[in-house]
Amino acid sequence: MVPAVEAHGAHIPLIGLGTWDLRGRVCARIVEQALRLGYRHIDTAEMYDNEREVGEGLRSSGIKRDEVFVTTKIWPSHFAPRELERAAKDSLMRLRLSEVDLLLLHWPNPRIPLSETLGALCKIKQAGLARHIGVSNFTVALIDEAVALASEPLVCNQIELHPFLDQTKVVAACRAHSMAVVAYSPIARGNAKNDAVLARVGKVYGKTAAQVCLRWLTQQQIAVIPRTSRVERLLENFSIFDFELSPVEMAEIGALARGDGRLVDYAFSGTPKWD
Ligand SMILES: NC(=O)c1ccc[n+]([C@@H]2O[C@H](COP(=O)([O-])OP(=O)(O)OC[C@H]3O[C@@H](n4cnc5c(N)ncnc54)[C@H](OP(=O)(O)O)[C@@H]3O)[C@@H](O)[C@H]2O)c1
Repeated sequence: MVPAVEAHGAHIPLIGLGTWDLRGRVCARIVEQALRLGYRHIDTAEMYDNEREVGEGLRSSGIKRDEVFVTTKIWPSHFAPRELERAAKDSLMRLRLSEVDLLLLHWPNPRIPLSETLGALCKIKQAGLARHIGVSNFTVALIDEAVALASEPLVCNQIELHPFLDQTKVVAACRAHSMAVVAYSPIARGNAKNDAVLARVGKVYGKTAAQVCLRWLTQQQIAVIPRTSRVERLLENFSIFDFELSPVEMAEIGALARGDGRLVDYAFSGTPKWD
């Protein structure tokens, strides 16, 4: 069984498969293979244009629906309450599911009052279309605001997180609200494999730099959703629960953060790209 992080009754498997940029048959096949290998958590989004294929992969894997934790996200251009509900229903139709395990607001949208969007998100949960709800790319201030406004628990904030980016404050804010943290781009879009410290630590355990990177996150009870289009890497990224980093190694990897470590950054520019 895959270890999970618990938040407000949600059990989020610590390792999941990210699917951004995976399309068509490659996507359906890799989702199917991941589930056959033991993954029990798949991350998609309306914006990835692959929910149909994710649903296909789920069905062809033969794994029972209630054994897989499926997350999707609604794009900020659909945050007006009626549009949010419509977008959630459209996602379910594409996935061919009656509910998702986790439905997230993909990025904040400063042009639509958060209270309205959260009211609609809570209603979607109450209507049984999502077992749990949460947010993504929310800052400390927005997390506090969202938690105060929501009538249902927000179970997670999905954020960019890897050793090269210091997200200590956002992680602390999530923990203060008992929210789980889900790390996206957890191997820094593949860059982890080139890091000398991660590689050196990996040699001690017979693990790759990418595995050490994923272990560093999951050892902090942070869920990770690495993406790969290659079957052999599915197994590599999954095989991170049979070794443990020492406190010294954890601290050494924690010190890799640098000012220019962020890879995904376009929110709060004042000219949101979703309008
Ligand atoms: N909420 C958001 O706003 C948001 C934003 C970005 C991403 N996400 C989610 O997070 C997921 C993961 O993030 P990401 O796709 O940006 O980046 P990532 O998972 O950190 O990195 C993916 C890249 O790393 C390579 N890779 C995978 N496993 C590897 C390994 N063991 N060794 C070396 N290279 C490896 C992959 O190439 P190959 O395919 O060749 O293996 C791919 O190019 C996304 O797919 C998406 O589901 C969410």
